[in-house]
Amino acid sequence: MRVLVTSDYRALSLQAAQIVAEAVRLKPDLVLCLPTGNTPLGMYEDLVRRHRQEGLDFSRVRTFNLDEYIGLGPDHPGSYRAYMRLHFFDHVNVAEQNIHIPNETESDGYEQAILEAGGLDLLIVGIGANGHIAFNEPGSSFASRTRAVALATETIANARRHFDNEADVPLTAVTVGIRTILEARQVLLLASSADKAGVVERAIRGPVSESLPASALQLHPNVLAILDQAAAVSFR
Ligand code: GLP
Repeated sequence: MRVLVTSDYRALSLQAAQIVAEAVRLKPDLVLCLPTGNTPLGMYEDLVRRHRQEGLDFSRVRTFNLDEYIGLGPDHPGSYRAYMRLHFFDHVNVAEQNIHIPNETESDGYEQAILEAGGLDLLIVGIGANGHIAFNEPGSSFASRTRAVALATETIANARRHFDNEADVPLTAVTVGIRTILEARQVLLLASSADKAGVVERAIRGPVSESLPASALQLHPNVLAILDQAAAVSFR
């Protein structure tokens, strides 16, 4: 796995956006797999800027989100669909019919849709505090594909800050699998802040194990990890 350490979060975000932008310019109908969470916010912001200022054209790009909570209406502000609209889709020209977000009833259909699109060209992923990628929690099989999963206690506790009421915090989600992620042609792993330093080091340098889902990325031939200084203490 290649590791790029940037000076700070802003540099990480610009670097990630530049890689996405170049891929879109090279292949205007790129198949992108997209993350949510705090980490990619700066990347989305810079992609929106590039769309507005440089005319970066997403009109033929196909997008597949990594994951989505189960049980929230599509307009629930805590849903990943709402996040994607707020931070990206409402500000660029991705065509509505090219947007895919997994849902509980169609998880096999999601894999089929990815196949029909020609497979994932570029997948961007963050890392959870417990080493999850997308919502593949510790113990997920490396052979897993898109499916419904129960969230780990730690993940539920971390999600709490995004919901007004405790009762709204989802306990389950639909996520692409580890196998789905490993089949993408190119992967960008983004990690920012000191909170992630320990788990990032174990994911990149530690043993490959289903107990740390992100370690599966060591099995992929084309992963670039972009870390800011704070997340990269052991890589300087
Ligand atoms: C959620 C998402 C993951 C994301 C993780 C970390 O669990 N399902 O895809 O990587 O949060 O989020 P953050 O970037 O906010 O630390």
